[in-house]
Amino acid sequence: MRLSLTDKCNLRCTYCMPAEGLEWLSKQAVMTGAEIVRLVRIGVEQLGVRELRLTGGEPLVRADLVDIIASLREAHPELPISMTTNGVGLDKIAAALKEAGLTRINVSLDSLHEETFAKLTRRPFLDKVLAGVDAAWAAGLGPVKINAVLMRGINDTESPDLLAWALERGYELRFIEQMPLDADHGWTRKDMITAAEIRELLSPDFALSPDPRERDGAPAERFEVRRRDQASGEAKGPLLGTVGIIASVTEPFCSDCRRTRITAEGKIMSCLFSREEFDLLGLLREGAGDQELARRWQDAMWIKPKAHGMDHTGLGTPDFVQPDRSMSAIGG
Ligand code: GTP
Ligand code: 5AD
Ligand code: SF4
Repeated sequence: MRLSLTDKCNLRCTYCMPAEGLEWLSKQAVMTGAEIVRLVRIGVEQLGVRELRLTGGEPLVRADLVDIIASLREAHPELPISMTTNGVGLDKIAAALKEAGLTRINVSLDSLHEETFAKLTRRPFLDKVLAGVDAAWAAGLGPVKINAVLMRGINDTESPDLLAWALERGYELRFIEQMPLDADHGWTRKDMITAAEIRELLSPDFALSPDPRERDGAPAERFEVRRRDQASGEAKGPLLGTVGIIASVTEPFCSDCRRTRITAEGKIMSCLFSREEFDLLGLLREGAGDQELARRWQDAMWIKPKAHGMDHTGLGTPDFVQPDRSMSAIGG
């Protein structure tokens, strides 16, 4: 279950938000902590939710974040609760998040160069994010995963450096194909760096071999990483760690997807690309009981589309229409 805590964000990543930001939801429209805890409980107790991912916008901008996590943890002592964050401000709160019961963390980081980072996110916060990643690791919020979206001509050639950086620190890096979920509707197929290109970009420096662990419906396909010997072209030396590639567009994984999403205003989305949403929070606020909420949530998931339709056969045909919501308003 992926639950968005807020639509707000303090960065403006070009593949997600417009420079001027978006019109934020009103405070009343957003789920309260108590509503979140109730919906998670219904998900866990009645619908078989086995893992919770907190997302945004940027979840750290929510003032009651630590309290929400503590309440969720109290209600579900064994539930894995993870969070996907842009890392800004994480250095200050990582220890409190761990203390409250957060299990692990994913941080978005597309570049290690100040200028490139600032160009991509439209904010000069690289140092803050790096401090946040280190603090998460130090607080015991590992395994720390790093998400990097590659953009042609901007950070694509940085990919081997990003991987070396992550491997040295024991973070699991995942490269993500850019999806058409940007508010500016600027996504184009030719600008997207594909999974095949990512493997090629890494290949001069690193030898990748399939990770033997079960993928188990995860978005990322994982590879074991070793250095490549320049002379022989063969893998050389010890296993350095793993890298993931999330190839949502060119190698979709929809058939194995078992995620359910709740937006910050309590709408169920059965898929990142679904155009139909069900207002679960509205129903809750009208006084519906747990059984009814569970049943309607289940109904909303039955219409989960078979596939997103943006793979090579889909996009450009009348079948695929970019959703109105940007990534920040869905929660990733
Ligand atoms: P873990 O590996 O368990 O930490 O999970 P994760 O990869 O789902 O987490 P994260 O929130 O870091 O998401 C990484 C990327 O995968 C983001 O760009 C997500 O939008 C993308 N992703 C997650 N779920 C889906 C999905 O259902 N469909 C598609 N196409 N992409 C997804
Ligand atoms: N395509 C792919 N990934 C995206 N993210 C945000 N927008 C997009 C997009 N258009 C990623 C962020 C973050 C995760 C939640 O989603 O980089 O790591
Ligand atoms: Fe904010 Fe994440 Fe969107 Fe970047 S990708 S603008 S960090 S919500």
